[in-house]
Amino acid sequence: MRVLLIGGTGQLGTEIRRRWSADTIVAPGHDWVDLAVPTSLDTAVGDSDAEVVINCAAFHNVDRCESEVETALRINAVAVERLAELCAQRGKRFVTFSTDYVFDGATEWPYSEHDCPHPISAYGVSKYTGELLVERLRSDALVVRTCGVYGVRPSATKGYTFVDRVIAQARAGERGRVVDDVIASPTYAGHLAVALRALLETSARGVVHACNVGPVSWYDFAAEALRQAGLELSLDAIGSGEWKSGARRPRYSALENARLRELGITMPDWRAGITAYLADRRA
Ligand SMILES: NC(=O)c1ccc[n+]([C@@H]2O[C@H](COP(=O)([O-])OP(=O)(O)OC[C@H]3O[C@@H](n4cnc5c(N)ncnc54)[C@H](OP(=O)(O)O)[C@@H]3O)[C@@H](O)[C@H]2O)c1
Repeated sequence: MRVLLIGGTGQLGTEIRRRWSADTIVAPGHDWVDLAVPTSLDTAVGDSDAEVVINCAAFHNVDRCESEVETALRINAVAVERLAELCAQRGKRFVTFSTDYVFDGATEWPYSEHDCPHPISAYGVSKYTGELLVERLRSDALVVRTCGVYGVRPSATKGYTFVDRVIAQARAGERGRVVDDVIASPTYAGHLAVALRALLETSARGVVHACNVGPVSWYDFAAEALRQAGLELSLDAIGSGEWKSGARRPRYSALENARLRELGITMPDWRAGITAYLADRRA
């Protein structure tokens, strides 16, 4: 498969490049293709012989999106629509990523693709707008919703992963403080890259959820990371009310991979995500 990969240096993009060894991947850097510069998208897709265009780039600093709404919409919605349009016009398949933050969290069960989004942050609104603009084209584009992504090459916007931070604090003899009332489906980028490759072997279009399986609180996730790293449990559970942040976040945003399952594609559970991450990081 010939692939044009945008955002190829991020957590997910790095795993796609690492794991899809049988494919031909061209991954221009951010300085070459910038979602904020529409002409760079026209040139990149127009000049490309790729069959599939994958967009892993986003403006996903959730707190900054609150004060930079226009930029969030330009990058997460308008640019995504432009890419989808360019691909539809040229017969290329388009894949982009969305987020659990399109939901409000007022549930106690993992969200499936049938649940209606209701974002409560500017980031969530911008990503959901992107979803709708892509869907409106009625092309064969795929919008893959995922959650709490962590990878061996940490996101440049954060510089470290949640797992790394928890482990580093424990090694430094510090007690970590982690929320125990926020439930998600943290997802190892390596597992997501493998599932995405399998998904592209199908004719699926539209919204598909793809996460490591199982709802888990961030506290339990952190505790398991410490256990697997052979470290003592040195964590204090806190309520989300004690954690100051600029944007509202859903209390419950675990996703169910309902469509993936129907397609016969399974993803490992969240514990296996930590195991694979720690092994790959050591390697
Ligand atoms: N991380 C999460 O927890 C999470 C959760 C749910 C959904 N998602 C979604 O999953 C996708 C992949 O996330 P990720 O964690 O792999 O992201 P990431 O690690 O932050 O990587 C983002 C990539 O996009 C590039 N990029 C950033 N802004 C760009 C722009 N304006 N134009 C072109 N390239 C740009 C970055 O390059 P530079 O570093 O050079 O700027 C980097 O290669 C995103 O759509 C994100 O919204 C992520």
